[in-house]
Amino acid sequence: MEAPNPTAAAKSDASDEPVVVSGIQPSGRLHLGNYFGAIRQHIDLHEQHEAYYFIVNYHAMTTVDDPERLREHTFDVALDYLALDFDPEEAALFVQSDVPEVTELTWIFMNLLPTSRLEKGVAYKDKVDAGLTPNAGLFNYPVLQAADILIYGGSLVPVGADQKQNIEITRDLARRFNNTYCPEDEPLFPIPDPHILDDVAVVPGIDGQKMSKSYGNTIGIFDEGDELKDKVMSIVTDSKPLDEPKDPESCNVFSLIKLVAEEEKQKQIAQQYRDGGYGYGHAKQDLLALIQDYFAEARAKRKELEQRPDYVRDVLRHGAEQARERVEPIMERVRDLTGLVRTR
Ligand code: TRP
Repeated sequence: MEAPNPTAAAKSDASDEPVVVSGIQPSGRLHLGNYFGAIRQHIDLHEQHEAYYFIVNYHAMTTVDDPERLREHTFDVALDYLALDFDPEEAALFVQSDVPEVTELTWIFMNLLPTSRLEKGVAYKDKVDAGLTPNAGLFNYPVLQAADILIYGGSLVPVGADQKQNIEITRDLARRFNNTYCPEDEPLFPIPDPHILDDVAVVPGIDGQKMSKSYGNTIGIFDEGDELKDKVMSIVTDSKPLDEPKDPESCNVFSLIKLVAEEEKQKQIAQQYRDGGYGYGHAKQDLLALIQDYFAEARAKRKELEQRPDYVRDVLRHGAEQARERVEPIMERVRDLTGLVRTR
């Protein structure tokens, strides 16, 4: 098999080392559910392996047609990741559209996949079932995602459980391409493994449902002041009076406390719940202080980064350079194998 060229982002020359690839939606301000659901693991993984993380602005176009919003959200995510200690020396962080070859590969892949495979897509079907008319971009979303992953020779993809279907299509496309175009003993694309990030606690939102932007129940990682306070104070609880003993394990406030408090502090607060004389108002005050503390450094770093847009741009540009270096030989090979004539 032709090994893809190692790049500056390479952690090791061994070709059986996993290459981590993940796309990040530029969907506005990140919240605690994003952080404890995926970002924390992203940040952990990027230091251990060769890794390519990109902000998927092409994917976002399937639902966003406001250019200002797309631009802003793209930079916002970059700021968020850098503030949360993503280290650009350790792995490449870049904007998807800085590697436009990914759309070229998408086109090539589209011709290998029967449309019936995409008609079963969850996001697409949901829209159709809701009576909406999905655009062709949404229909082909999983093909672009497959190109995203395979163009970097990605073999390990850290994603939430909701992405299983898309990774299945990616695996399918890798096989189809290899079978159609590659000599039998020289497949071009590795078959990637999903690394499903579902061993994490479900993070409740302020209404007690899973925290999600679409439910409007989020607490932002970078919320502060009255905004943060109002959200924490409005977390739904039962109506047990202050004096009465309470069960921490069935309380939304405590579920959040568990994510941001050290072990000792958690135990102490759980005991106060059980003892009584500790009201939900107290618990919320404690949670507020704990959240402020947990993200204090990230908040300060984000403020500092906001003052240095050129630095953020440089990081993204450097990441894109690494990504393009990686992509070039793979795309040359793809064009060659598929019979796309290039005269320049
Ligand atoms: N579909 C993914 C999501 O909604 C984002 C994504 C795009 C992605 N391209 C990717 C994830 C490639 C992993 C690998 O979260």
